[in-house]
Amino acid sequence: MDIKKVFENNQKFVKDKLSTDKDYFENLGKGQNPELLYIGCSDSRVTAEDLMGLGPGEVFVHRNIANMVSGNDLSAMSVVEYAVVHLKVNHVVVCGHYACGGVKAAMQSADLGVLNSWLRNIRDVYRIHKDELNAIQDDEKKYDRLVELNVKEQCVNLLKTAAVQKAYRDRDLKVHGWVFDVHTGNLIDLKIDFDHYLQDIMEIYHLD
Ligand code: CO
Repeated sequence: MDIKKVFENNQKFVKDKLSTDKDYFENLGKGQNPELLYIGCSDSRVTAEDLMGLGPGEVFVHRNIANMVSGNDLSAMSVVEYAVVHLKVNHVVVCGHYACGGVKAAMQSADLGVLNSWLRNIRDVYRIHKDELNAIQDDEKKYDRLVELNVKEQCVNLLKTAAVQKAYRDRDLKVHGWVFDVHTGNLIDLKIDFDHYLQDIMEIYHLD
């Protein structure tokens, strides 16, 4: 890739935006008021705004390997706190994707150095759902299911934070678990029943 091309693309982006709205960047510079926090995978095929048809200013984004929400990840926790408490987003989305390399790596026995501790969080998801996953004979189906269960568990991790618990209670914040199918381009809503999970986990994780 010629990096010069990136700057040419950028100038085209500026021109295109200004051709439809001459105040576009002036307005963008005034601040942000996104309604949605998107937590997704760093995978180059899963671009947050493009797959949702949203543009600059519309979505607050956090991406890491395999869309994890770990309580000891200061970056993810700061993003959640800032988006929910300060930007007051109305929706928080955890979006996984089929064919996720991070999830695949967590299904295999290999020493991947510093990645081991990150992938261990996904192995924990496997352990929690071991019975269901081990009952699936087809490896591809098992892989897809772990992608879905990982999204669900990361949503549950969101519910463990004080910021989400308060916003859920006080202003009806919505949490969503989605999967992007890289083979078709479709976004799939896993339709996770968070009221059910909230009741289930609050006995132990209730903070406020
Ligand atoms: Co991925």
